[in-house]
Amino acid sequence: MNIRDLRQDYKRSCLDEDDSGNDPIVFFHQWLDEAIKGEVPDPTAMSLSTVSSDGRPSSRMVLLKGVENEQFVFYTNYESRKGEQLKVNPYASLLFFWPQLERQVRIEGKAELTDSHESDRYFMSRPLESRLSALVSPQSRVISGRSELEILVEHARAEFRNKEMRRPEHWGGYALIPELIEFWQGRTGRLHDRIRYRRLSGSEWVKERLAP
Ligand SMILES: Cc1cc2nc3c(=O)[nH]c(=O)nc-3n(C[C@H](O)[C@H](O)[C@H](O)COP(=O)(O)O)c2cc1C
Repeated sequence: MNIRDLRQDYKRSCLDEDDSGNDPIVFFHQWLDEAIKGEVPDPTAMSLSTVSSDGRPSSRMVLLKGVENEQFVFYTNYESRKGEQLKVNPYASLLFFWPQLERQVRIEGKAELTDSHESDRYFMSRPLESRLSALVSPQSRVISGRSELEILVEHARAEFRNKEMRRPEHWGGYALIPELIEFWQGRTGRLHDRIRYRRLSGSEWVKERLAP
Protein backbone atom coordinates (compact mmCIF):
# COMPACT_ATOMS: atom_id res chain seq x y z
CA MET A 1 0.00 0.00 0.00
CA ASN A 2 1.19 3.47 -0.86
CA ILE A 3 1.30 5.65 2.25
CA ARG A 4 -0.19 8.51 0.19
CA ASP A 5 -3.42 6.48 0.14
CA LEU A 6 -3.63 6.15 3.92
CA ARG A 7 -6.38 8.53 4.89
CA GLN A 8 -8.17 8.81 8.22
CA ASP A 9 -11.38 10.81 8.32
CA TYR A 10 -12.14 12.32 11.72
CA LYS A 11 -15.81 12.13 12.70
CA ARG A 12 -15.97 11.63 16.45
CA SER A 13 -16.57 15.08 17.76
CA CYS A 14 -16.40 18.83 17.27
CA LEU A 15 -15.01 21.79 19.21
CA ASP A 16 -17.00 24.94 19.64
CA GLU A 17 -15.75 28.24 21.15
CA ASP A 18 -18.39 27.88 23.88
CA ASP A 19 -17.23 24.36 24.84
CA SER A 20 -13.71 25.40 25.71
CA GLY A 21 -14.56 28.26 28.12
CA ASN A 22 -12.23 31.11 29.04
CA ASP A 23 -9.52 29.21 30.89
CA PRO A 24 -7.37 26.92 28.71
CA ILE A 25 -5.82 25.23 31.77
CA VAL A 26 -9.27 24.13 32.99
CA PHE A 27 -10.10 22.94 29.49
CA PHE A 28 -6.77 21.08 29.22
CA HIS A 29 -7.64 19.16 32.40
CA GLN A 30 -11.01 18.26 30.89
CA TRP A 31 -9.38 16.89 27.72
CA LEU A 32 -6.66 15.06 29.66
CA ASP A 33 -9.33 13.40 31.86
CA GLU A 34 -11.19 12.36 28.73
CA ALA A 35 -7.96 10.91 27.26
CA ILE A 36 -7.37 8.93 30.49
CA LYS A 37 -10.98 7.69 30.61
CA GLY A 38 -10.89 7.03 26.86
CA GLU A 39 -8.03 4.59 27.49
CA VAL A 40 -5.59 6.39 25.26
CA PRO A 41 -2.29 4.53 25.85
CA ASP A 42 0.23 6.78 27.66
CA PRO A 43 -2.17 9.76 27.78
CA THR A 44 0.45 11.92 29.52
CA ALA A 45 3.11 11.28 26.87
CA MET A 46 3.96 14.48 25.03
CA SER A 47 6.52 15.56 22.49
CA LEU A 48 8.88 18.21 23.86
CA SER A 49 10.66 20.41 21.34
CA THR A 50 13.65 22.55 22.23
CA VAL A 51 15.98 24.68 20.13
CA SER A 52 19.78 24.72 20.19
CA SER A 53 21.87 27.88 20.47
CA ASP A 54 22.29 27.85 16.67
CA GLY A 55 18.52 27.70 16.08
CA ARG A 56 18.14 23.99 15.34
CA PRO A 57 15.05 22.35 16.82
CA SER A 58 14.88 18.83 18.24
CA SER A 59 11.99 16.80 19.67
CA ARG A 60 11.55 13.84 21.96
CA MET A 61 8.79 12.34 24.12
CA VAL A 62 8.55 13.01 27.84
CA LEU A 63 5.81 12.38 30.41
CA LEU A 64 3.68 15.13 31.91
CA LYS A 65 3.87 14.71 35.68
CA GLY A 66 1.49 17.47 36.70
CA VAL A 67 -0.02 20.82 35.94
CA GLU A 68 0.86 22.92 38.97
CA ASN A 69 0.22 26.65 39.31
CA GLU A 70 -0.81 26.55 35.66
CA GLN A 71 2.62 25.18 34.69
CA PHE A 72 3.27 21.93 32.83
CA VAL A 73 5.80 19.80 34.72
CA PHE A 74 8.10 17.06 33.41
CA TYR A 75 11.25 15.44 34.78
CA THR A 76 14.54 14.70 33.10
CA ASN A 77 18.33 14.87 33.26
CA TYR A 78 19.46 18.51 33.38
CA GLU A 79 22.69 17.56 31.57
CA SER A 80 20.91 15.80 28.70
CA ARG A 81 20.71 17.28 25.21
CA LYS A 82 17.34 18.87 26.03
CA GLY A 83 18.76 20.14 29.33
CA GLU A 84 21.71 21.77 27.57
CA GLN A 85 19.36 23.36 25.04
CA LEU A 86 16.96 24.68 27.68
CA LYS A 87 19.93 26.25 29.48
CA VAL A 88 20.71 28.47 26.49
CA ASN A 89 17.15 28.84 25.17
CA PRO A 90 14.36 28.23 27.70
CA TYR A 91 11.57 28.50 25.10
CA ALA A 92 10.02 25.13 24.33
CA SER A 93 6.87 23.52 23.02
CA LEU A 94 4.81 20.52 24.09
CA LEU A 95 2.54 18.46 21.88
CA PHE A 96 -0.07 15.88 22.81
CA PHE A 97 -1.76 13.67 20.22
CA TRP A 98 -4.67 11.53 21.42
CA PRO A 99 -5.65 9.62 18.25
CA GLN A 100 -8.53 7.72 19.90
CA LEU A 101 -10.18 11.11 20.55
CA GLU A 102 -8.91 12.68 17.31
CA ARG A 103 -7.37 15.49 19.35
CA GLN A 104 -4.11 17.41 19.46
CA VAL A 105 -2.99 20.01 22.02
CA ARG A 106 -0.05 22.38 21.40
CA ILE A 107 1.52 24.31 24.24
CA GLU A 108 4.31 26.87 23.92
CA GLY A 109 6.16 28.85 26.53
CA LYS A 110 9.20 29.21 28.73
CA ALA A 111 10.58 26.36 30.83
CA GLU A 112 12.06 26.95 34.28
CA LEU A 113 13.64 24.53 36.73
CA THR A 114 11.10 23.35 39.27
CA ASP A 115 11.67 24.05 42.90
CA SER A 116 14.35 21.63 44.20
CA HIS A 117 12.13 20.39 47.06
CA GLU A 118 9.45 19.48 44.52
CA SER A 119 12.05 17.56 42.47
CA ASP A 120 13.24 15.80 45.68
CA ARG A 121 9.68 14.80 46.52
CA TYR A 122 9.00 13.43 43.07
CA PHE A 123 12.37 11.63 42.87
CA MET A 124 11.74 9.87 46.19
CA SER A 125 8.25 8.80 45.05
CA ARG A 126 9.70 6.88 42.07
CA PRO A 127 10.29 3.10 42.13
CA LEU A 128 13.85 2.00 43.05
CA GLU A 129 14.72 0.93 39.49
CA SER A 130 13.72 4.34 38.08
CA ARG A 131 15.74 6.14 40.75
CA LEU A 132 18.79 3.98 40.04
CA SER A 133 18.65 4.69 36.33
CA ALA A 134 18.16 8.44 36.88
CA LEU A 135 21.15 8.35 39.19
CA VAL A 136 23.60 6.53 36.93
CA SER A 137 22.52 7.21 33.35
CA PRO A 138 24.56 9.93 31.64
CA GLN A 139 21.52 10.74 29.49
CA SER A 140 22.31 11.68 25.87
CA ARG A 141 26.02 10.79 26.14
CA VAL A 142 27.67 8.14 23.95
CA ILE A 143 28.37 4.98 25.96
CA SER A 144 30.41 1.87 25.14
CA GLY A 145 27.47 -0.54 25.33
CA ARG A 146 24.49 -1.61 27.43
CA SER A 147 26.72 -3.47 29.87
CA GLU A 148 28.28 -0.15 30.94
CA LEU A 149 24.86 0.96 32.22
CA GLU A 150 24.07 -2.36 33.84
CA ILE A 151 27.36 -2.29 35.74
CA LEU A 152 26.69 1.29 36.90
CA VAL A 153 23.23 0.27 38.11
CA GLU A 154 24.58 -2.75 40.02
CA HIS A 155 27.29 -0.61 41.68
CA ALA A 156 24.69 1.97 42.71
CA ARG A 157 22.33 -0.75 43.95
CA ALA A 158 25.11 -2.13 46.17
CA GLU A 159 26.15 1.34 47.35
CA PHE A 160 22.61 2.29 48.38
CA ARG A 161 21.58 -1.06 49.87
CA ASN A 162 22.07 0.33 53.40
CA LYS A 163 22.25 4.03 52.61
CA GLU A 164 19.57 6.54 51.77
CA MET A 165 19.54 7.60 48.13
CA ARG A 166 19.12 11.32 47.43
CA ARG A 167 18.08 12.98 44.22
CA PRO A 168 21.20 13.63 42.13
CA GLU A 169 21.65 17.30 41.22
CA HIS A 170 21.73 16.47 37.52
CA TRP A 171 18.13 15.24 37.59
CA GLY A 172 14.89 17.13 38.28
CA GLY A 173 11.88 18.89 36.93
CA TYR A 174 11.08 21.63 34.49
CA ALA A 175 7.89 23.66 34.60
CA LEU A 176 6.75 25.11 31.29
CA ILE A 177 4.84 28.37 31.73
CA PRO A 178 2.39 28.47 28.82
CA GLU A 179 2.01 31.54 26.63
CA LEU A 180 0.00 29.78 23.96
CA ILE A 181 -2.29 26.74 24.10
CA GLU A 182 -4.11 25.39 21.08
CA PHE A 183 -6.82 22.71 21.06
CA TRP A 184 -7.39 20.81 17.81
CA GLN A 185 -10.31 18.54 17.13
CA GLY A 186 -10.28 16.53 13.92
CA ARG A 187 -13.36 16.97 11.71
CA THR A 188 -14.56 15.36 8.56
CA GLY A 189 -13.08 16.37 5.21
CA ARG A 190 -10.05 18.04 6.89
CA LEU A 191 -12.22 20.96 8.06
CA HIS A 192 -10.87 20.64 11.58
CA ASP A 193 -11.64 22.83 14.60
CA ARG A 194 -8.79 24.84 16.13
CA ILE A 195 -9.18 27.07 19.17
CA ARG A 196 -6.07 28.95 20.29
CA TYR A 197 -5.50 30.82 23.54
CA ARG A 198 -2.79 33.49 23.74
CA ARG A 199 -1.81 34.80 27.15
CA LEU A 200 -2.19 38.57 27.41
CA SER A 201 -1.06 38.89 31.01
CA GLY A 202 -1.45 36.88 34.22
CA SER A 203 -4.56 34.77 33.88
CA GLU A 204 -5.97 36.83 31.03
CA TRP A 205 -6.18 34.89 27.78
CA VAL A 206 -7.46 35.83 24.35
CA LYS A 207 -9.33 33.07 22.53
CA GLU A 208 -9.20 32.82 18.74
CA ARG A 209 -10.42 30.34 16.14
CA LEU A 210 -7.80 29.36 13.58
CA ALA A 211 -8.33 27.99 10.11
CA PRO A 212 -7.40 24.33 9.78
C1 LIG B 1 6.62 7.63 25.88
C2 LIG B 1 7.97 8.14 26.30
C3 LIG B 1 8.10 8.83 27.49
C4 LIG B 1 9.33 9.34 27.90
N1 LIG B 1 9.41 10.06 29.05
C5 LIG B 1 10.58 10.64 29.40
C6 LIG B 1 10.63 11.52 30.53
O1 LIG B 1 9.62 11.79 31.21
N2 LIG B 1 11.84 12.08 30.82
C7 LIG B 1 12.96 11.83 30.09
O2 LIG B 1 14.01 12.37 30.41
N3 LIG B 1 12.93 11.03 29.00
C8 LIG B 1 11.76 10.43 28.63
N4 LIG B 1 11.71 9.63 27.51
C9 LIG B 1 12.94 9.45 26.70
C10 LIG B 1 13.13 10.69 25.79
O3 LIG B 1 12.26 10.62 24.69
C11 LIG B 1 14.58 10.87 25.31
O4 LIG B 1 15.05 9.67 24.71
C12 LIG B 1 15.54 11.25 26.44
O5 LIG B 1 14.94 12.13 27.37
C13 LIG B 1 16.81 11.90 25.88
O6 LIG B 1 16.47 13.05 25.14
P1 LIG B 1 17.57 14.17 24.74
O7 LIG B 1 18.81 13.43 24.35
O8 LIG B 1 16.98 14.92 23.61
O9 LIG B 1 17.77 15.03 25.97
C14 LIG B 1 10.48 9.11 27.09
C15 LIG B 1 10.35 8.40 25.88
C16 LIG B 1 9.12 7.92 25.50
C17 LIG B 1 8.99 7.20 24.18
